[in-house]
Amino acid sequence: MLEDMINRIIDKNRSTTSHVTSRYKCSKCRDTGFIQTEKGYLRCECYEQDYIKRIWENFGVKQEEIKLLKDYTPYNEVTQKAKEKAAEYIINYPKLEKGTNFVLMGQAGGGKTHIILAIGKALLERKMKVIYMPYLEAIRELKANAMDDEYYNKLINRYKLAEVLIIDDLFKDKVKKGRLIAELTETDMRHIYPILNYRYSNKIPTLISSECTPQMLIELDEALGGRILERCGKTYGIVFNSQCNYRLRQFAE
Ligand SMILES: Nc1ncnc2c1ncn2[C@@H]1O[C@H](COP(=O)(O)OP(=O)(O)OP(=O)(O)O)[C@@H](O)[C@H]1O
Ligand SMILES: [Mg+2]
Ligand SMILES: [Zn+2]
Repeated sequence: MLEDMINRIIDKNRSTTSHVTSRYKCSKCRDTGFIQTEKGYLRCECYEQDYIKRIWENFGVKQEEIKLLKDYTPYNEVTQKAKEKAAEYIINYPKLEKGTNFVLMGQAGGGKTHIILAIGKALLERKMKVIYMPYLEAIRELKANAMDDEYYNKLINRYKLAEVLIIDDLFKDKVKKGRLIAELTETDMRHIYPILNYRYSNKIPTLISSECTPQMLIELDEALGGRILERCGKTYGIVFNSQCNYRLRQFAE
């Protein structure tokens, strides 16, 4: 039944456009979403990439509009280091110790989101399954769907299992002007803990931006903060200081 349907789609695509193969977005499956293998029909990788793209777009980010690392202009030592380490992370990604995080912390407007999204985009282009999780919006969505087991599990598994996860603005609601303004609540923990803990235990990499400094992450939750920081080691955890404000860069040392 399914095979018939797929065959019909493939035949249709073949007969109408076989003379112009370049017209297909995906030459592997000719835009059918399926490829024929010895084991029967399997989903083509483009199907999954489209699915991931839609998840990003649901949070308002178009992959083609993401700024690249080369668009990031360092203007002091810390921003220089952040750019270099990001490039190193991308290049060395296949060789990194399993589950190595990349964590940018501190100063708002320093370009943390710019850099982690640029890394995400580079990894997407290498066919990695990178999921984008803007912390506040995603946690709000999880909280709102907590009663719907099936949908909730689908959402939370998306973040737990993502080959690479980008958490943008982690604990955003807990920090203002460089200070902690609230504690993590039990409800916050119920949603974020399983994600971070699963990824830690299974050594899956996460790219994180947060206005929190390492001290604040520890203060919010020692175990969780410690685990996030442990996995980026000394190399891939960078703290932006008050000199790292792109809008005020001409005044930086
Ligand atoms: N060094 C830089 N070179 C080029 N563009 C930059 C640089 N730093 C920041 N920007 C740009 O400034 C804007 C703000 O940066 P971004 O959102 O990445 O900062 P952030 O550290 O994530 O801030 P927040 O803590 O408010 O989320 C973005 O449009 C980003 O592309
Ligand atoms: Mg940001
Ligand atoms: Zn395809």
